[in-house]
Amino acid sequence: MRTQVAIIGGGPSGLLLGQLLHGAGIDTVVLERQSKAHVLSRIRAGILETGTVALMHQAGVGQRLEKECFRHDGTVICHGEMQFGVNFFERAGKHVVVYGQTELTRDLYGARELANAKTLFNIENVAIYGADTDTPSVSYEQDGLSHTIKCDFIAGCDGFHGVSRKTIPAQLRREYEKLYPFGWLGVLSETPPVHDELIYAGSDRGFALCSMRNANLSRYYIQCSLTDKPEDWSDTAFWEELKRRIPSEYADKLMTGVSIEKSIAPLRSFVSEPMRWGRLFLCGDAAHIVPPTGAKGLNSAMGDVHYLFNGFRQLYEGGDSRGIDEYSAKALARVWKAERFSWATTKLLHRFPDDSEFDRKMQQADVAFLAENSAAQTVFAENYVGLPY
Ligand code: APR
Ligand code: PHB
Repeated sequence: MRTQVAIIGGGPSGLLLGQLLHGAGIDTVVLERQSKAHVLSRIRAGILETGTVALMHQAGVGQRLEKECFRHDGTVICHGEMQFGVNFFERAGKHVVVYGQTELTRDLYGARELANAKTLFNIENVAIYGADTDTPSVSYEQDGLSHTIKCDFIAGCDGFHGVSRKTIPAQLRREYEKLYPFGWLGVLSETPPVHDELIYAGSDRGFALCSMRNANLSRYYIQCSLTDKPEDWSDTAFWEELKRRIPSEYADKLMTGVSIEKSIAPLRSFVSEPMRWGRLFLCGDAAHIVPPTGAKGLNSAMGDVHYLFNGFRQLYEGGDSRGIDEYSAKALARVWKAERFSWATTKLLHRFPDDSEFDRKMQQADVAFLAENSAAQTVFAENYVGLPY
């Protein structure tokens, strides 16, 4: 088999890149380790920057999103009983939208099928060869048989645990990592959201987030211990703890219900540099991870897709390699700023087990400053709605 760009990983990065390339007449094959049903069963984040929405439109996959998404012009931030709003639209001239990553992925699979673009599911033992030569290839196994795809380029869109990043020789790679001493316990429930905006809440008991998918589907999170298991938390225990961490105004009207999904995710900041090795390009979670506190994971991945797609297009359409040559530096420049925002927002609102009384006072002063200072709110808003590409 031969293709122009072999895309490893059928998550949002690989699928959106594939769809954009298809629109530009560039042939791709997507190789996904899991089944489509498995990919679509993963509950992930739900906030899209307008840049991400624009990319979906550019890929011709924006119709359902446009119809079903909810525009959010701001968010609520709390600490204990203190609360204030940050209006993104007034401060940064942009909004974000609520649309589940799972739905975005579903739309992209639909478009890929309509376009008859090749996606291989349930494949195993993907390996990359000759990334530093002019004749790269990808091998894989399916139903016990080995296959090879020859290609011009490889896009490593296979997430944090994929093979692409690890294919870059260790001595050429530099990894930066920060692990946080807690996780997020998330619950999805078929109940109306407690408020029409998201609520990011710091409290003495730890962080909580009230989010949503639609008028009857809510997504809530609470900071939890890394040793906790989802089954340690009954629905009742979850709701009671959530209520203790948000202002009573919201706790009193919170509609609780049966959880239809409950999971724990550890929090991590991670960046691997560079994002290119010869003809292999890393994209999305394969190269970087953020803690979810600023809703930057998916949106940072989509930023990479933007740069990489434009680089490939310039090369295939006009023979100009500047875009792909600059890819790693440009993508990383944006990624590091999203890392900074996600780290800062995590530090602002979480309870760190080793924090001293002084550290807690600093955190409270930081929140108070954000509450009172319009320049600080503008900084928050500009980061939240997404920095320009
Ligand atoms: N071979 C083939 N596919 C693989 C391999 C492999 N060795 N390893 C992983 N994959 C697949 C995974 O099954 C997954 O479907 O690659 C895909 C990677 O998808 P994501 O992890 O979603 O990463 P990405 O597409 O970059 O999306 C970034 O989505 O997952 C969230 O937190 C993430 O919000 C961020 C955004
Ligand atoms: C979500 O809705 O899942 C969500 C929203 C905002 C975040 C993180 C997760 O910062």
